[in-house]
Amino acid sequence: MVRRWLAFHPQRWERVVSIHASIKRRTAADVRAAKGGEKLVALTAYHALGASLADPHCDILLVGDSLGNVLYGFESTLPVTLELMIAHGRAVVAASSYALVVVDMPFESYEQSKEQAFASAARIMKETGCGAVKIEGGVHVAETIAFLTARGIPVVAHIGLTPQSIHTLGSFRAQGRAEAANLVRSNAPGSIEADADAVAAAGAFSVVIEAVVEPLARHISDKLTIPTIGIGASAACDGQILVLEDMLGMTERTARFVERFANLRPAMDAGIAAFSSAVRSGSFPTQDSLYGVKA
Ligand code: KIV
Repeated sequence: MVRRWLAFHPQRWERVVSIHASIKRRTAADVRAAKGGEKLVALTAYHALGASLADPHCDILLVGDSLGNVLYGFESTLPVTLELMIAHGRAVVAASSYALVVVDMPFESYEQSKEQAFASAARIMKETGCGAVKIEGGVHVAETIAFLTARGIPVVAHIGLTPQSIHTLGSFRAQGRAEAANLVRSNAPGSIEADADAVAAAGAFSVVIEAVVEPLARHISDKLTIPTIGIGASAACDGQILVLEDMLGMTERTARFVERFANLRPAMDAGIAAFSSAVRSGSFPTQDSLYGVKA
């Protein structure tokens, strides 16, 4: 509530600054307690600029490994390293003060053993100052989630479409169609519902559900006692997340579930084109933007 007021009264800046300074950063426990309450707002943030823009409006900032695609132009998230996640995580923590910062555990930083996962997650927590990590996977990472949470590392799980498994999934299409057609048997081993049950039982304080057919995502959200964060899942989820650059209309191609809440790419293109022609025509820089010599 206070944060909404802050966002809509920029003219009361001094008061805003003092109130904002006294607002405590959200914790994993706060997010956990939001189940069934006001919807959780989450966006990805990869750098200080994105974090400073999104922080006043969000409960969670996710330093997603999708930065590999969006910032570095990788074909998948597989080449993203622990060092890269730590560098970006540190920038996002430094540039935010309200939202809980969650850093993705990249491919190859947790799969070998729960001990490897602890070493990677501990580095992320210590070197970035973030409040939680996120791990892709369901039943097969449940033991790891339990190991981390027992050792003081809050974990967000990520089920459904898990981009680090693109080579076994085969494509980025929606998950759980067959399972949704027969919800009664859907908690069979290997199902998305079984994944949801396993990560919740293991101690994850929240779970991202990505690209899962709506009835199944709704069913899981209704069933779990931890908050679900949907991305291409269901309006019934306890919160929603999108990639910042996608929802601002900066990226060229996006998944079907992305709604553009702004259309920045054409404006950015026009600005760059205007700069380019001003430089070529010699109309920039003008005298006004140059330094004179003081007498
Ligand atoms: O890496 C990422 O950005 C994510 C979100 C899409 C949930 O995992």
